[in-house]
Amino acid sequence: MCGIVGYIGNKKAVPILINGLLSLEYRGYDSAGIAVLNSFNNTYKIDFVKDKGRVKVLQDNKDLELLQGNVGIAHTRWATHGSPSKENAHPHLDNSKTFAVVHNGIIENYLELKQKLLDNGYILYSETDTEVIPNLIHLNYKGDILQAISKTLKELKGSYAIEVISPLFPDKIIVAKKDSPLVIGIKDDEKFIASDIPAALSHTNKFYFLDEEEIGIIEQNSVKFFDIDLNEIQKDIKNIDWDAESSEKNGFEDYMLKEIFEQPNAIRETIGSRVSLDKNVNLELDDIDFKNFNKIYIVACGTAMHAGIAAKYSFEKFCKIPTEVDMASEFRYRSPLIDEHTLCIFITQSGETADTIAALKLAKSLGSTTISIVNVMGSSITRISDYTLYTHAGPEIAVASTKAYVCQVTLLNILAIYISERLGIENSDLNIFKQSLLELPEKVKDVLTTIDTIKEIASHVYNQRDLYFIGRGADYAVSMEGSLKLKEISYIHSEAYAAGELKHGPIALIENGVTVIAIATNPNIYEKTLSNLEESITRGANSILVTNQRIINDKINYIINIPEINPILSPIISIVPLQLFAYFIAKNKKLDVDKPRNLAKSVTVE
Ligand code: AGP
Repeated sequence: MCGIVGYIGNKKAVPILINGLLSLEYRGYDSAGIAVLNSFNNTYKIDFVKDKGRVKVLQDNKDLELLQGNVGIAHTRWATHGSPSKENAHPHLDNSKTFAVVHNGIIENYLELKQKLLDNGYILYSETDTEVIPNLIHLNYKGDILQAISKTLKELKGSYAIEVISPLFPDKIIVAKKDSPLVIGIKDDEKFIASDIPAALSHTNKFYFLDEEEIGIIEQNSVKFFDIDLNEIQKDIKNIDWDAESSEKNGFEDYMLKEIFEQPNAIRETIGSRVSLDKNVNLELDDIDFKNFNKIYIVACGTAMHAGIAAKYSFEKFCKIPTEVDMASEFRYRSPLIDEHTLCIFITQSGETADTIAALKLAKSLGSTTISIVNVMGSSITRISDYTLYTHAGPEIAVASTKAYVCQVTLLNILAIYISERLGIENSDLNIFKQSLLELPEKVKDVLTTIDTIKEIASHVYNQRDLYFIGRGADYAVSMEGSLKLKEISYIHSEAYAAGELKHGPIALIENGVTVIAIATNPNIYEKTLSNLEESITRGANSILVTNQRIINDKINYIINIPEINPILSPIISIVPLQLFAYFIAKNKKLDVDKPRNLAKSVTVE
């Protein structure tokens, strides 16, 4: 949560920092601020502007014109400690105004550190945990800034990605990180620091990734790295093959709509050369002995977890290994029964989700083999996990995940086939299944043509108070994701139920005016779901049906027809109308679909 950017080079820093902040706003948008080193007669001082609200508020602030320097740091906040306000916005300065800091993360022992500072005569003006950092640097500074920073970092418990500027070192930005992401983009005599790659992609494709408890000293023409004990370390520059255009809206009204429409291509890229007919699936996992495993755990959060639930069926069908799906925040606290015979698969778009990182570390410590399905290259989880498989969805900017989900389900299915082939399990259906996988991009393209129907349906139901999604098997998995999308961006109360469960309690909630959306795509069980929908209609519900079966039923208010596909892969198709449904409901309610309230793209707190 929170986005940080930094710039050092030969240009004025503010416009570059503002652009960086705008592209990182998905990480948090409660308040924003910028600090630069301004010089007058070769004397430097820190000037800053900060305010409550979005980056736009900062952009409109006339004082921004006073920030002329070419070394600067900036921040967009997702509030944790202290409500969104000007005082709590970053940057935070120490009492002597020698050090300015922006921070992403949480300092868990800040109360103890605050007391130490108060005992030493410091005054703290904000309610934040961050304000202790510049003051501690000041307290620890005895003439050597690196020593002061190293000593300060050792006192911090929790997570941080920080940038520090000071008139004491006017040609440098000092950065450090632990459990929060930070990348440094390199271009000739300019350097671009950011929480996420997209914020610097319009400037460069070359990046350094800061690792845990590392410190970077960034100058116009050089970058040096140290561990927390100040031993110098060497790092390689990584080339990132995302293009800047993929981080723009490209004529779409919102990132979410653009990303929904990018799904056919994102799936095609994710399949890439991994799957072809009459050949075994190709994944770089050759040194894993899959015969060793008697259990699979799939662990993730939110939409990524829904992708795991949707793909569980594939692992059980093709690999014949019992497979459990768990949310990372629960998994880590319930002493899971895992050992070296367990394969743990983690799914994450950002690669930075704190709960997923903690669950991954636990699985590793218990001896299991870990594979992570990740979208963001070089992110923290790729560096912790034993093996990483990338979804090639490209940058996902909208807070509500869409294209990452379909790519996750696609890649998990590919992994299931791969394991099945490596185990030598006979399955005459496998080639037909691969054929279906290869058809996915075109089928998703077809389902996008339902857009006008869905827009029309949304215009009739956007003012509803409660909506229920029902389905069986993989359709139930999709129901959960459809319900989450709706909640996230339209703020309408919604729940997902396994269709057969409705009659065991939730049906008491069905009355006139409630809408029930049924997803029924499996030829073997769709009629059962239809019966459950009829039971709701009988009790006064409005009804919407998403199906790939030929159904004529004039009791159902709206039927959305989607292409047929192997039932195991159907979540990749049937989620698309539900994404569009949530999108148009939110548009009808005139809400900001890309930046829904209270949320942030990358959840780096527990
Ligand atoms: C998706 O729409 C959500 N914003 C959220 O549930 C998300 O999927 C979850 O926080 C996990 O994020 P990750 O994939 O980056 O780990």
